[in-house]
Amino acid sequence: MSAPREHFSSKIGFILAAAGSAVGIGNLVGFPVAATKNGGGAFLILYALFVAFICLPVMLAEMGLGRKTQHSPYSAYNEIGEGKGIWRLAGWLATITPFMIAVFYMVITVWIFGYLYQSVLGNLDLLASEGYFGKFVNSYHFVGYLIAVTIIVNVILIGGVRKGIERASKILMPTLFLMLILLVIFVLTLDNAMAGVKFYLIPDFSQINGSVINGALAQAFFSLSLGMGILITYGSYFRRKDDIVTSGKLVAVTDTAVAFIAGLMTLPAIFAIYPNTDPETLSDSSVSMIFSFFPNIFLALSNSVGYVAASIAATIFFLLAFVAAITSLVSIIEVPTSSFMEQRNVSRKKALLLMGGAITILTLIAATSFGMVPWFTTFVFYADVDKSVFDVIYDVFYDTILPLNGLLICLFVRYRWKRTQLTAELAEGNEAYPTSWLAKYVSFSIGTFIPVILAIVFANTVLTKFF
Ligand code: PHE
Repeated sequence: MSAPREHFSSKIGFILAAAGSAVGIGNLVGFPVAATKNGGGAFLILYALFVAFICLPVMLAEMGLGRKTQHSPYSAYNEIGEGKGIWRLAGWLATITPFMIAVFYMVITVWIFGYLYQSVLGNLDLLASEGYFGKFVNSYHFVGYLIAVTIIVNVILIGGVRKGIERASKILMPTLFLMLILLVIFVLTLDNAMAGVKFYLIPDFSQINGSVINGALAQAFFSLSLGMGILITYGSYFRRKDDIVTSGKLVAVTDTAVAFIAGLMTLPAIFAIYPNTDPETLSDSSVSMIFSFFPNIFLALSNSVGYVAASIAATIFFLLAFVAAITSLVSIIEVPTSSFMEQRNVSRKKALLLMGGAITILTLIAATSFGMVPWFTTFVFYADVDKSVFDVIYDVFYDTILPLNGLLICLFVRYRWKRTQLTAELAEGNEAYPTSWLAKYVSFSIGTFIPVILAIVFANTVLTKFF
């Protein structure tokens, strides 16, 4: 006999856990830089529209499906899909995707941990030294950091839904918010900070084009943790009396607010140190911004505020990034863990040992694919370049399969589960929902233009990434 399914103890517990999943490293650097490069305020408006009109319906569909079935994605698809081929495949994709993205995300979390450790030791000058990141990723110190991160994640997950995920989120999310606000206040007091705020906020509609629109949608979709099975799984931990609709809205607002506020830290910091920065020259990659660019910003800052204050600021920054990353990592490892518990009827401990263990081993492989192990470094060849194991996981799962999963969930909910069922499910805990304009909008959009848009994003990514 398996143990009864655990549930979050409160709505706020669920909201903080789901927001913990959504707020990740993409919010802190990726979003602000993308906004600054692509039209400032104009990008922000576009992004907010995508969150409200495309992402929120998908989010509600995932959460509703999870609570209805009380299952994680694989069983949810199979139960309502009655084991039919296409839905079996969708269930399988929704389980393997978080597994693989967990590997990719764990590599980055481990790097952040390493940088955090070095900044606590006061080695800011080392972190900012020429070529350090390249040396860092190819050093076996990685293994020590990996062990530390594995322990932290598993300590949270072994506690289960209430005593693990919910409790950790209740401590970590307010801490994250506090650190963010502290950094924003600190950075805004620096000379020339306002130049960054201007670049970030002043709208330039002429920058908006097809690829910016595609990028903004993809960013919003990933940032809300959609298409990864996470919200189906977390939805299954929701009690029947809980209000999914209001919770979903709050998670979307929190994630967007954190991304927006992070821009008030990231951009002013860049412009305070490099007043003549041309936004075009900023890197698109969060990874290179966090590990190569930011240590230099903090080191340069030591000229005006002193080395100790700059080191403290750097430590808070990496701690912030680490907290954001760990709450996302926990949510994504929970998906295969919970699926395995269900499918094999085993204890959480056993499921974690297997899933968590497999993810850690694959992380080791992905982490050694930057030169340490040549075979993993030039693993396959496509789009005219050699790709490492890490690149393949990123290109295939993070970039390509996510919108496909989103598309499948829309089609599944609308054409298999039927949208009236979704409305009825969402009405539990929110009686006013069925008569609201939102319910009409969700019912209509989820079976029409949202899947079409996701199909276009999917096709576009396949064509640009692999050919
Ligand atoms: N929302 C996360 C982010 O912005 C994306 C993510 C969630 C990645 C969960 C992995 C796991 O970084």
